[in-house]
Amino acid sequence: MSSQRIRRFLEGQLPPTPFLVVDPVVVTERVREFAAEFPHSLLFYAVKANPEPAVLRAVLAAGGGFDVASPAEIRACLAEGARPQGLSYGNPIKKPADIAFAFAHGVREFTTDDESDLRHIAQHAPGASVTVRMLVDGPASATPFGRKFGCPPAEAGRLLRLAAELGLDPVGAGFHVGSQQSDVSAWDAGIAVAAKVAAEFPLRRLNIGGGFGITYRAPAPSLARYASAVRASLAEHFPSGAPEIALEPGRAVVAEAGLIRAEVVLVAWRAGHRWVYLDAGRYNGLAETENEAIPYRFDAGPGERGPVVIAGPTCDGDDVLYQHTHYELPLALKTGDEVDILDAGAYTASYSSVAFNGIEPLRTYCLD
Ligand SMILES: Cc1ncc(COP(=O)(O)O)c(C=O)c1O
Repeated sequence: MSSQRIRRFLEGQLPPTPFLVVDPVVVTERVREFAAEFPHSLLFYAVKANPEPAVLRAVLAAGGGFDVASPAEIRACLAEGARPQGLSYGNPIKKPADIAFAFAHGVREFTTDDESDLRHIAQHAPGASVTVRMLVDGPASATPFGRKFGCPPAEAGRLLRLAAELGLDPVGAGFHVGSQQSDVSAWDAGIAVAAKVAAEFPLRRLNIGGGFGITYRAPAPSLARYASAVRASLAEHFPSGAPEIALEPGRAVVAEAGLIRAEVVLVAWRAGHRWVYLDAGRYNGLAETENEAIPYRFDAGPGERGPVVIAGPTCDGDDVLYQHTHYELPLALKTGDEVDILDAGAYTASYSSVAFNGIEPLRTYCLD
C-alpha cells in the first residue's frame, strides 16, 4: 500500500518516469514498530535496502542504528548524523583496507564468519566487538543467500575463542534466514544452534539478522507474528534467559515506503502472448525480478484485464520481469500509460545499474 502522502505527490507536477518516490514517515513508523515488537533489542537497519539520506535520517529519528556493508555506506550514515557506535559492519566479505577505514571512523562492531577475516579485524580494528555469523539451514526464502555466508555452527565456538585470544571482544553469534522469509518458523533453527554454541561459549548477543517479509502479491505474516515466533524459540532454547537480540531488517523497514511510477514503452503481440514493455526493468530498479523472485504488485488502472508478459526496456534477453508468473494487466494498456509498482522502496534504486543501454539509474524522490 502506498501512503496518502505518496498519493498526493502523484497528483502533482511529476518528473519523467521511471522514478521511485519514498515516504520517510513510513520508514520511521516501521522502525518504531520493530522497537515495539522486539523490545530491548538493537536494530541495525540494512542500509543496502535503500541508502537515501532521507531514509537514513528517518531511521535515526526512530532511534535505529545501521548495518553497513562498505566504506561508502559508513560515510553515508555518518553524513546524516549517525554515531559510529550505532553502526555494525555486517558484511563478512571485506578488504582489510575497508576494516581499517571503518575503525578509523569509529566503527567498533564487526560480523565475521571466517578465520582470515577475523585476523584482518584483529589487525585493523584492535579490540573491536565481533559477532560470528553461522550458516543455518532452514526454509528457503524468496531470495536465499545459498552457501555464500556463515561458518558451520560447530566452528562458531572456535572462532569466538580465537577472537578473544586475538584481543577482540567476542560479543556473540548471528545468522540470517534469507531475505523475504515468509516462514516465521525459519528463525528457530538459528536460535537452536545458537543455544548449542552458548553451551560452549557465553553469548552476550544474538544477531537474528533481517529477512522479515512484506506483502507483495501474497500476504506476508505481520511483524507481530514474526516477533512471537522468535520469542517462543528464545524461550524454548534459552530457558534461563536469552542473550540481547540484534536485528538487521532492510526490506521490512523501507519496502512499503516506496512506489515506482513507470510508463508503458510498447505493447506487442509475440507468438500469441501480449508483451508489455515498461521503462523500468531489471537494470533500472527491478533487479529482484531475477528468477521472478519478488512478485511486485502493479497498479495500471481500471478496465478488463488479460494475461501478459512484463518486460523491461533494454536490449537484453534477461530483462524480462515476469513470463512464468501469471500476471494480468488492463487489455487497453498502451504506449505512454502509467503503471505503478507498489511497495518498491527496498532493493530497487540501490540495485540500479549506472548506465546499461544508456539508461540512467532509477531516480528517487523522498517526500519532506
Ligand atoms: C548481513 C545482512 N543483514 C541484513 C540484511 C537485510 O535483509 P532484509 O532486507 O531481508 O531484512 C541483509 C540482506 O542482504 C544482509 O546481507
